[in-house]
Amino acid sequence: RHRLLLENAEQLVLVCGRREPFLRRDGPGSLAVLRAGSLVVGLDGCIKAVGQADVIRRQFSEATFERIINCSGKCVLPGLVDAHTHPVWAGDRVHEFAMKLAGASYMEIHQAGGGIHFTVEHTRKATEEELFTSLQHRLGRMLRAGSTLVECKSGYGLNLETELKMLRVIERAKRSMDIGISSTYCGAHAVPKGKTATEATDDIINHHLPKLKELKLSGEIHVNNIDVFCEKGVFDLDSTRRILQAGKDIGLQINFHGDELHPMKSAELGAELGARAISHLEEVTDEGIVAMARAKCAAVLLPTTAYMLRLKQPQARKMLEEGVIVALGSDFNPNAYCFSMPMVMHLACVNMKLSMNEALAAATINAAYALGKSDTHGSLEVGKQGDLLIINSSRWEHLIYQFGGHEALINYVIVKGKVV
Ligand code: NIG
Ligand code: FE
Repeated sequence: RHRLLLENAEQLVLVCGRREPFLRRDGPGSLAVLRAGSLVVGLDGCIKAVGQADVIRRQFSEATFERIINCSGKCVLPGLVDAHTHPVWAGDRVHEFAMKLAGASYMEIHQAGGGIHFTVEHTRKATEEELFTSLQHRLGRMLRAGSTLVECKSGYGLNLETELKMLRVIERAKRSMDIGISSTYCGAHAVPKGKTATEATDDIINHHLPKLKELKLSGEIHVNNIDVFCEKGVFDLDSTRRILQAGKDIGLQINFHGDELHPMKSAELGAELGARAISHLEEVTDEGIVAMARAKCAAVLLPTTAYMLRLKQPQARKMLEEGVIVALGSDFNPNAYCFSMPMVMHLACVNMKLSMNEALAAATINAAYALGKSDTHGSLEVGKQGDLLIINSSRWEHLIYQFGGHEALINYVIVKGKVV
């Protein structure tokens, strides 16, 4: 028996059709699009067959499927992967949006005690139940917008107690929700009030990380990645290096915020430490780009943030030309309140000059790579997890071309062969 047959899609978008991330611009049509394609998901939730509709028809008998969806006139794509989100917090910052529109900068608000500090205050006060309920709601909205695998960060606790509260909430979502989650400890998201950066760094290395190691061994919380906000006035290069190395030493993948508002040599550091990915990179140097390409360290670009804060755009074209693995994330957080990877791809095309093919690869296989999951996620091929989208259009590019209101465009979101 089999779980699902998607039959006769106008376009079945395989993405790169191989396990390595999509590196360069290969021109239009490089995504391996199958016409009149069908796809089978087995009872284990993995893709069992992909091919021409008539061939699949002959290979599998209709009676063996739990569910058949006729995809005539529609497109099937891999589920989207969101490589960077901050979805656990209480208290929104709509008032700061107004301040920013009136001319205040992100760092001015942060240094005046707002920004991340504002969110930390509210998140510390919130109960675990409150945080879980809002997380569930937010992940539900991401799923409906097509994201089937998302990275989720802590980082609005800064003290051990609240960081653990956030990580427990993420762990609970991992176990109870259909959406896939890669979790990130981001205790170095800001320097907590009343501490110096060095004190905060020591606290993380001596207290937070040993606790995470212990909780992993006992099976209570399994964190995947470590993050630091490497920025002028937050964590400098040296503190960042110490924290990331200590995280790596307990088995976490390095995936951090770097070179966003000031050039910090974050890219060079990440390449040296063997980081999986670095996010933002608006201010990365040319040398940093080359180092990232060489180290196969993914660049997670965040078009919502550059747009929201009116930052200079990261040099996506240069990164692609140098062979950097370019991925995308929504950066959902109280500063950039966006759940939607289709919107993110649209912004990446318009503002960062990605082609639609590159944007889709960045939001699927390359984002999966940034999370260390490109063996199982991010493209449609036999053996990979059956995470899929069916869109109500005969050309897949409508997922990027249409901006806003994509609820009507995305007919089905499927995780492990199950419609969710
Ligand atoms: O990726 N730059 C640091 N962190 C987040 C913003 C978090 C916040 O402002 O609450 C980002 O943009
Ligand atoms: Fe972020």
